[in-house]
Amino acid sequence: MTYGVVKTISEHQPVMVSEVMSYLITDPSGVYVDGTVGLGGHSKIILSSLNQNGHLIGIDRDNNALSVAEENLARVGANFSLYNRSYTDTAVIIKEFGAQTVNGILLDLGLSSAQLNDQNRGFTYNGVGALDMRFNQQFGITAEQILSSKTEAEIADFIFLYSEERYAKKIAYNIKRAEKMVTVDDLREAIRRSTPPNKRNRTFARVFQAIRIMVNDELDQLRIFLDNFINLLSVGGRIVIISYHSLEDRLVKLAFKKLKTEDHFSILTKKPLVATSDEIATNSRSKSAKLRAGEYIN
Ligand SMILES: C[S@@+](CC[C@H](N)C(=O)[O-])C[C@H]1O[C@@H](n2cnc3c(N)ncnc32)[C@H](O)[C@@H]1O
Repeated sequence: MTYGVVKTISEHQPVMVSEVMSYLITDPSGVYVDGTVGLGGHSKIILSSLNQNGHLIGIDRDNNALSVAEENLARVGANFSLYNRSYTDTAVIIKEFGAQTVNGILLDLGLSSAQLNDQNRGFTYNGVGALDMRFNQQFGITAEQILSSKTEAEIADFIFLYSEERYAKKIAYNIKRAEKMVTVDDLREAIRRSTPPNKRNRTFARVFQAIRIMVNDELDQLRIFLDNFINLLSVGGRIVIISYHSLEDRLVKLAFKKLKTEDHFSILTKKPLVATSDEIATNSRSKSAKLRAGEYIN
């Protein structure tokens, strides 16, 4: 079945929709979790494939995204519940909802185009606003606070680790010596002073992504989830994870392998699936997407 281009209010086009649906949904009466509901792009399709006994639980750290998701989902059906939490709370949320286990869980990691394009969030190097970068703007430490509290060596280490940027040390040096480091422009200038001009936009994007991963503790969040999700699936229940960063994909791959050796897990995607060239042509975000899926077996 093909699902075509899915329109949501606001600008985010969900990736690999047909692939997600074919792996995730096994029972239209089931309960499904979208742990990164965003604007509801995938959730909308999941909800439309469920019957009146089915239910969708949507989770996102970003309250602004959830308000948009609520509107998008309400156009499709009423059997959904949204939670402004982290997907690491999935176990507690399922319990609060009144279930023990669910039929499928989807994670579509990273950030949405709406977050990236919002000038006030600090995610994009094209922006003008404050260096925030938090998915949940009500909690946690902003990029500005992290860059001011960490040492130069710590900043160099995490930029190198998450972006493999060879000028990481020089960038950290210029971040610490900048007159101020409070806006996107200040960070962009420190990177500009530290790196050669060729492919500079890619350098900006990689370093901004590295800082965002640090601000939101994204790899640890994923590790916590991967250690626990198997306990949340019913027998035959599916997990589908789309990642956009090689370190995330590696964590998923290793977690699936480990579960497989413990005998109650079947890996459904021998290699990660990638988007088709047609999809990449119409949705550039899908270019770096890697999808892995598995099933809890008894
Ligand atoms: C790529 S977007 C999801 C887009 C969504 N699949 C759609 O089609 O609209 C990723 C979302 O995950 C959210 N997110 C990131 N880390 C999270 C976490 N630990 N828990 C819950 N949501 C998270 C972000 O706020 C963002 O809205």
